[in-house]
Amino acid sequence: MPLLFEPLTLRGIAIRNRAWLAAMCQYSAFDRDGMPGDWHLVNLGQHATGGFGLVMTEASAVVPEGRISPEDVGIWSDDHVGPWRRITDFVRGQGAVPAMQLAHAGRKASTYSPFADGTGTVPSDQGGWETVGPSALAFEGYAAPRELTTDEVAALPAAFAAAAERADRAGFDVVEVHAAHGYLLHEFLSPLSNVRTDRYGGSFDGRTRLVVEVVDAIRAVWPADKVLFVRFSATDWAPGGWDVHETAKLAAVLAEHGVDLVDVSTGGLVAHQQIPIGPGYQVPAAAEVRSASGLPVVAVGLIADPGQAEQILADGSADAVMLARAAIREPAWPLRAAHELGVARKEAPYPPQHERGAWR
Ligand SMILES: Cc1cc2nc3c(=O)[nH]c(=O)nc-3n(C[C@H](O)[C@H](O)[C@H](O)COP(=O)(O)O)c2cc1C
Repeated sequence: MPLLFEPLTLRGIAIRNRAWLAAMCQYSAFDRDGMPGDWHLVNLGQHATGGFGLVMTEASAVVPEGRISPEDVGIWSDDHVGPWRRITDFVRGQGAVPAMQLAHAGRKASTYSPFADGTGTVPSDQGGWETVGPSALAFEGYAAPRELTTDEVAALPAAFAAAAERADRAGFDVVEVHAAHGYLLHEFLSPLSNVRTDRYGGSFDGRTRLVVEVVDAIRAVWPADKVLFVRFSATDWAPGGWDVHETAKLAAVLAEHGVDLVDVSTGGLVAHQQIPIGPGYQVPAAAEVRSASGLPVVAVGLIADPGQAEQILADGSADAVMLARAAIREPAWPLRAAHELGVARKEAPYPPQHERGAWR
């Protein structure tokens, strides 16, 4: 059996293979209440029928002002539970594990969606809102955020925990804390966006305090048999920024706080980042976090070829791979991978309706 199709069990959750769908914003909650709808059901559902072992939702806002765009989905109210439940029921029914990414966009909130008529920060008369961040430092091209007070920061873990508790009721087996891509939690980690002088800034312990508190608050309400991921940008790809060494150090700390796996991405904090883009360009960071923290990791970023994915696992660089753009182009990528890697028909993750796809 190729490693890509070996099951992985984390706590009480068995994942059928190691080809997972990465979080992808859809900007499609057009009613602006953050509700997922038919688009989200079909979009995530196609990847569950397509054989992915784990299907991650897009960044789902824990508070309304945490949305990236006014069209983002969320999990900030009990009204969101039912619409998400419909999706998790379908995903689980297809043998995939439903996972939700919990997010707050911080200083990169209230932006136009890529297919809206505008760029940068959405003004309040068009449905935008005042953004917040660790410090009043703008992301280039966006409005400067308001610096959160210490009390406001201290209240954020409870918002993440309430969202996780709703995600549990909505039927998710995994939640992923989004601490990557220049959004709020990453903004606290990086000295380039966090110049606070209170207990949430300064030293490594200060900058990482909020993430640790968020993890603790979630673990206090999230069932012990369910799984907790954290997604980091392992480096800002900019001088003086957050780096792989600090990511590995924080991952080791979080291993003691009930985190089960680290999802290793990079970048997104500053516009002047210099990324050496290429196939698997984030895999070395995943490998470093894995060896330094002892935690399982998932690698992501320009992983598109089944042989490449298999090699990443064989090298011991990661425990699973995530795909985003390749999955858009090919929603049933794992079925093609199973075909190419010679997985027997009965072992491949085909829904019975699609088993003819395995015939040679
Ligand atoms: C359309 C789109 C939306 C995305 N939205 C999110 C998101 O909501 N949360 C997140 O952590 N990453 C998001 N990403 C980043 C992906 O999860 C992934 O890390 C990145 O695209 C690299 O993987 P790839 O080379 O397989 O596309 C998004 C990527 C795309 C293409």
